[in-house]
This record gives sequence, C-alpha cells and structure tokens, in this order.
Amino acid sequence: MIKSIKNICCIGAGYVGGPTMAMMANKCPNLIFNVVDINKERIAAWNNEDLSKLPIFEPGLKEIIKNSRNKNLFFSCEIKKAIESADIIFISVNTPTKTKGLGAGKCSDLKWVETSAREVAKFSKGHTIVVEKSTLPVRTAEVIQSILNSTNCNSSSNKKSFSVLSNPEFLAEGTAIKDLESPDRVLIGGDNKKAMDLLSDIYKKWVPEEKILFTNIWSSELAKLTSNAFLAQRISSINSISAICEVTGADIREVSRAIGKDKRIGSKFLDSGPGFGGSCFKKDILNLVYLAEYFGLGEVAKFWEEVVNINNWHQKRIAKIVVQKLFGTISGKKIIILGFAFKANTNDTRESAAIKICKDLIDEGAELIIHDPKVSSLQIQHDLQTKPKSQINEKNESSLNNKLGNWKFSKKLDIFENAHAILVLTEWEEYKNINWESVIVKMAKPAWLFDSRSIVNVELVKKAGFNLWRLGDGSQKE
Ligand SMILES: NC(=O)c1ccc[n+]([C@@H]2O[C@H](COP(=O)([O-])OP(=O)(O)OC[C@H]3O[C@@H](n4cnc5c(N)ncnc54)[C@H](O)[C@@H]3O)[C@@H](O)[C@H]2O)c1
Repeated sequence: MIKSIKNICCIGAGYVGGPTMAMMANKCPNLIFNVVDINKERIAAWNNEDLSKLPIFEPGLKEIIKNSRNKNLFFSCEIKKAIESADIIFISVNTPTKTKGLGAGKCSDLKWVETSAREVAKFSKGHTIVVEKSTLPVRTAEVIQSILNSTNCNSSSNKKSFSVLSNPEFLAEGTAIKDLESPDRVLIGGDNKKAMDLLSDIYKKWVPEEKILFTNIWSSELAKLTSNAFLAQRISSINSISAICEVTGADIREVSRAIGKDKRIGSKFLDSGPGFGGSCFKKDILNLVYLAEYFGLGEVAKFWEEVVNINNWHQKRIAKIVVQKLFGTISGKKIIILGFAFKANTNDTRESAAIKICKDLIDEGAELIIHDPKVSSLQIQHDLQTKPKSQINEKNESSLNNKLGNWKFSKKLDIFENAHAILVLTEWEEYKNINWESVIVKMAKPAWLFDSRSIVNVELVKKAGFNLWRLGDGSQKE
C-alpha cells in the first residue's frame, strides 16, 4: 500500500470529471491532477484559452479552471501516461442505460467502465487506488476488482495491486461548483481502511470531517442510486399533484408551500415543472428497477418504475394542453420555446423535458422558434434529430442532419413577431425579466403564455393582456 498520494488521474472529462477534479486541484495545490478522455474535442475545449468555450457551463467553473489549469490540473488524451503515474484513479466515465441486449432499457451499460478498468489493469504501476466516481449498479466494484485482478500484466519488476473504493458524486448540475465546495456529505465505500483514509485526506482539505461518511462498498453504491430515486420521486409526486390542482381549483404553489412547512417533508424539491430531466434520474431509477427485478422483488420494481412512468406522462400532458388551449390545432402556428436545457444554469440537455415536448409540438404541425442562452443549435439538432430551417441572428452552424425540422434557433430574444404562443420550459433568470407589454404587441391574438416553471410575474403578464396558463393553477379551471 502506498503511504501518500501525489498523482491523481481521472478517466472521463465530463460533467462530473471536469468540475470535480478542478475543485480538488484548487483545494489541493500540492497534488497533480491529470484528467484524461478519449474525446479529443472535449479535451481541446477544456484547454481552450477562451474560458467561455469550456465544454460545460456551470456558474463558478471558469474561475476554478483559471486558477489551476496547467499548474496542477491538466486535461489531455494521454491515458496511458496518466494511469502509469497515478497513485489514485477516479473512473468518471458515462454509464448510460443499455439500449440493446440483456437488461436493455433498464440496466446501465458498463462498457466504458469496463474499458477503463482494463486500461488501468494494463498501464498502472505498483499499488493503485481505483475509485468509482461514476454512478454504478450495486456490486459493480466486484466486476472492476475481478478485471483488475485477472490482469496478466504483472511482471517481476512491476507487481500490481489495487484497492477499489466507491465515492459517488452528489453534485447537481447548475449548482455543481457550490455543491463541490460545500457538499452535504462525501461518501466513501470500501473495505481497505488505509485506502479510504488516503482518499478522505484529499477531501479533508476543505470538507469538515463529520461530513465524510465511511460505509461498506455496496451501501455506497446503493446510496447513490437511492438518493437520485428519492429526489426524482419528489418531482413526480408534486407534478402528479399539479394535475389534480388544475381540475379541482387548487394551486400547486400554495399546496407546495403548505406541505413544505412540515419539517418531516421539508421545502426543497417541491417545485412542479415540466418533468425531471438530466442524465441521471431516469437512468438511476431504471437501474434500481432492474436490480429489484433481478432479485425477484417485483413489487419494489413496480413502485420505482411508476416514478418514471408519471414523468413521461406529465411531459406528454404539457404538449397536449398547449394544443387544446390553441383551439385544438397548432398547425402552422408559431410557438416560441423559452429554454431547452433540462434546468437553468447548465448547457446540458440530456433527457430534457424540452426534447419530448418540442417533438410533440412539431408533430402537431407547429413552427417552433427555440431560444436558450447556453445550449447550442447543434445540440438541439442532435436532440430533435432534424436540422433547423434557419438560424435567427446567427451565422449558420454546421449541420448534423439532412432532414429539415419545423424549428428555428435564436440566441436573441427578438423573436416574438406573429407568434401565437410562448412556452417557458427552463427557469433561466432572463425570462423572469421580459417586458411582456412590449412582447404582446408583436404577437398574434389571442396571445398565450404557457409557464411550466412558475417564473413569470402573473400580474404583469395578465396586465399586458396575455392568456396565461401555469402548471398546477386551478384558478384557470373552465
Ligand atoms: N452529470 C451529473 O450531474 C452527474 C452527477 C453525479 C454523478 N454522475 C455520474 O457520473 C458519471 C459520468 O457522468 P457525466 O455526466 O460526467 O458523463 P459525460 O458523458 O459528461 O462524461 C463522461 C466522459 O467519459 C469519457 N469516456 C468514456 N469512456 C472513456 C474511456 N475509456 N477513457 C477515457 N474517457 C472515456 C467520455 O468521452 C466522456 O467525455 C455517470 O456515471 C453519471 O451517472 C453524473
């Protein structure tokens, strides 16, 4: 076992690997952090001189990258070299839901984790601590350990050994830097006390000791899946109640405020919205469902699967409401989409509710103008699987698709001319300050505003003359 840590490698420079290592590098200036990835463009973006071109947008990220990059934090594709010199290796690669084969649609595809483990087995030297940073199905540590142990790369001059730990990441996109700076807890699962202490020594540089929890490795893996399942469950719960509000005359904001005052429930994660998105919630719940099914716990599996089912239903419900309110047809009507990211303060669109909702509206014949302050037109093309009719106020970005979709993209907000409706899908701050009086004069009448995030000022919107629909607002009951 090594005595101290000097060199750290992180495999995977994504939404987790990049910010997490940047925070550690800021807090531990005496340690060297090599973040490696197979994706050359992503690494080039991490190394871009222009910090507004980093591959990820997160408030506060630019600053910590500026502090450490090329001092004790390095981004590269030199995987072999980074592994060879590392005392500790974080595996932070993607673990999406499997799309084919056994467990397709539910269990995680571990091919990227397996490749990483094989690379570690091949290139590591001496004793290496291998840390699961990715969110993984319970008992994946066993898989990693057996890949590492089965390596035939041992030689008399290089005796390899490994300690595998689980250290799941709890950051939330949009507040990643704040969450990393001041985490609710740091979880370290394993059975090698020395390795666990060495990893916790890194965190102790800025995280109070009482927030660092030690568990066995399986509890750590399961705690991460459970944490995401509980958070997503709250969103599905409140969104299901918003539908009841709309038909009974209740108001979801009032209901949330009232139940949130109960200390046993708490007020966080009680805002209803267009349905949860992001790369993790759905995937991690489906993983839990798969695990329960695998162990013959059918009722448990059904319980958690319903959280995802309600979310899918809820996203469909929003597109349907838009069509109904616009006299049952949106064919040929111009609809403005405000926000495409799955939440504010991130450029991530993975599983964003906007994808499904926009596709449904386009299928109904609407012409969409999509605005988002941080998401690129190229990303939206990828998500909608069609290219835009044109870009407004922007030079044309290169195209991924041949098929033309009935949508346009704009980086600016002067897009309301002749629009029939506006649909707010992401709670970006700038949408809260739109001057609705000057917007409505440009629009076709009656002008509709659909606010799925409860961010607009109701009084101002109504005073301007809009027909307003808000999620879970029963006062609009007909
Ligand atoms: N995004 C989040 O908010 C979040 C939060 C907590 C945990 N997680 C978990 O963390 C893990 C990573 O998530 P992410 O959002 O950073 O994913 P991501 O897709 O943004 O990044 C993963 C990176 O790993 C790279 N990669 C894949 N295989 C590789 C290999 N063999 N060698 C080198 N690089 C390789 C990919 O090119 C990619 O850049 C997932 O398991 C996810 O569930 C994500």
